[in-house]
Amino acid sequence: MRPVEIKKGVHWLGVIDWNCRNFHGYALSAKGTTYNSFYIEDEKKVLIDTVSHGFENQLLCALSHLTNPEEIDYIVVNHLEPDHAGCLDKMVEICKPEKIFVSPMGGKAIETFFDCKGWPLHIIKPGEEVSIGKRTLRFYETRMLHWPDNMFTYVPEEKMLFTSDAFGQNIASSERYVDQLSKEMVADYMQQYFANIITPYAPKVLKTLETFAGLNLDLDTICPDHGLIFRGEDCAFALEKYAEYAKQTPKNKAVLFYDTMWKSTEKMINAVASGLASEGVSVKVMSVKANHHSDVMSEVFDAAAVVIGSPTHNNGILPGMADTLTYIKGLRPQGKIGAAVGSFGWSGECVNILTEWLETMGMEIIEPKIKAKNRPDHDALKECFQLGVNIAAAIKEKIG
Ligand code: FEO
Repeated sequence: MRPVEIKKGVHWLGVIDWNCRNFHGYALSAKGTTYNSFYIEDEKKVLIDTVSHGFENQLLCALSHLTNPEEIDYIVVNHLEPDHAGCLDKMVEICKPEKIFVSPMGGKAIETFFDCKGWPLHIIKPGEEVSIGKRTLRFYETRMLHWPDNMFTYVPEEKMLFTSDAFGQNIASSERYVDQLSKEMVADYMQQYFANIITPYAPKVLKTLETFAGLNLDLDTICPDHGLIFRGEDCAFALEKYAEYAKQTPKNKAVLFYDTMWKSTEKMINAVASGLASEGVSVKVMSVKANHHSDVMSEVFDAAAVVIGSPTHNNGILPGMADTLTYIKGLRPQGKIGAAVGSFGWSGECVNILTEWLETMGMEIIEPKIKAKNRPDHDALKECFQLGVNIAAAIKEKIG
């Protein structure tokens, strides 16, 4: 794609990865993604972040429309993860920059990614300012948003904040700004990104938002490294949404995810869903065979309750459930209600194993754990329905 001038002399230079579906090897990016890089033309020519390995020629081609890449003076590395720094070595080789700005943690990590002896690294001090001519780069450390090395770069003269992964969305599109698409759609994808990448660091997000509110930055453009750019009043929208996600306030919603062999566990899950829905709770029923674990996590993220089901298989649970539970547990969702159901043939360990998973995620368990031998009969399904009703009551108590 050709560069897009965001403000006079400040350009988007990203790459649109239309067909990326496997994001970082663990998350689904159903709408593709972008790797956003930015170029500022001033007395010093500055590149902010690069793109994923394999896309360096596209980046160089876009940059060449604006300047000779060998004339780049500074490269800012807001984040070292390979989707943004995967071609940094190539860019350093071609641009031969005078300085490469990294955060203190980035400075420690960079040599584990690259053979960077002789690179002109400049480890920033938090809040440090560097003049590039008419403009200034000001650096803020944002550790663990979502890696130790993350930082933001602020350009006060342009009221622009370059935020690396924060506020990102996995959307491949020819549009560059949130206001060119539906804001609700962008918010959905921003929430999905948060749910699958940022959730473990939600408390850190709240602290960072508080710190930035205290800085009172004059801000009219937020440039994340994935997806669309926020401008004008959309900046406040992005900040509000992030505060909302970081609080993890549960909705009147339950997600029921399960795996099944001969549909017995599925019938039990459907009966629990029916009990929940009869009490006015919004339900999502998700087979882990039909839904990627990151789609399940996106739904779990704002749900008040999680109901899980699996039959007993070889004294354990079905492997698809272990996959989804491992993934969700790693993301550390907070403040959920949990319950478990499952069918069995002879040994029947499933519900205890499932309940242990819920307990290790700190969920408030609603009893009983229901298990049915071979097939749930009328009484078992009635019990499942009642479990749904009981979970609905617990949700009401929780969210008021
Ligand atoms: Fe988009 Fe943490 O990389």
